[in-house]
Amino acid sequence: ESRVNRKLTTIADVRKTLQKRNPFAHKGTYGKGLIVGGSEFMPGSVTMTVMAALRTGAGLCTVATEKAAIPSIAANCLEAMYKDRAGIPEMDLSDFDGIAMGPGMGQDKTAGELVNNLFRGAECPLVIDADALQHAKEMLHAGVRKGRATLLTPHPGEMARLLDIEIGELLANPFSYSARFAEQTGSYVLLKGKHTIVTAPDGRQSVNNTGNAGLAKGGTGDVLTGIVLALAMQQDDPFEALRCACHIHGLSADIQVESAHSEHDLLATDVVKGIGAVYRKLL
Ligand code: APR
Ligand code: MG
Repeated sequence: ESRVNRKLTTIADVRKTLQKRNPFAHKGTYGKGLIVGGSEFMPGSVTMTVMAALRTGAGLCTVATEKAAIPSIAANCLEAMYKDRAGIPEMDLSDFDGIAMGPGMGQDKTAGELVNNLFRGAECPLVIDADALQHAKEMLHAGVRKGRATLLTPHPGEMARLLDIEIGELLANPFSYSARFAEQTGSYVLLKGKHTIVTAPDGRQSVNNTGNAGLAKGGTGDVLTGIVLALAMQQDDPFEALRCACHIHGLSADIQVESAHSEHDLLATDVVKGIGAVYRKLL
């Protein structure tokens, strides 16, 4: 594969991109985010997504989920607002500066209809993860969101499904498959792995080297989605938002493993808690 345009994300890149908090900021300054996901039997995923978004600096977050899931999510995240996902088609999406969808949302028909609605209706940056990726597949290939920021965060299995290829084939050529897909669909792609690759539709690519095997545990991807949402609302360039997000996510895990935890016991919720130490190191 050619190596044009491809570089490692350094801590200096992240420092350069992150802004200092404006002393006169109010809760609207750093974005109103909508997170769509979670379901009665999968309430934890979206709880970690919203906590990560708030820890990363989002000003206000609303979670839209199945009605039955709201009490358990709300009990674990006092800082967010909640809506029944059945009301999404009637919601004014222009109230939001960023929307993330997918974690724990499920693969049923109702979830598919919501993805369709948000994919077409959201003018703001839209982060698509997990179950929402498969629901969005045809619309992505059809170029429905041309001109609007679309950020995808697939793991290799999800990316291979979007491309209709085997995982092994993808992993043999991850840069060129990412570049082609980003260009064809006009979307920003974060392909997860030990070395996460971020690709812009214009061909820029970066590789992340923070993170450790403690992240190989359920829920860590849901945390990343929240970090991505918060940064997508704070930065103009989705490419920078994505590369900073995976650097911060991995660095949080690295700091936790050097201090309070180990690669064995690290939990996704510890990665959320570690975001504070990352900011203290970065800023
Ligand atoms: N080294 C560094 N980073 C790692 C490692 C490793 N060995 N293993 C995993 N990671 C990181 C990845 O780069 C990614 O950021 O952990 C995260 C894992 O994300 P996901 O694969 O999305 O995992 P998870 O949160 O468990 O997904 C939960 O969502 O995507 C769906 O089908 C998936 O049901 C699953 C659910
Ligand atoms: Mg995932």
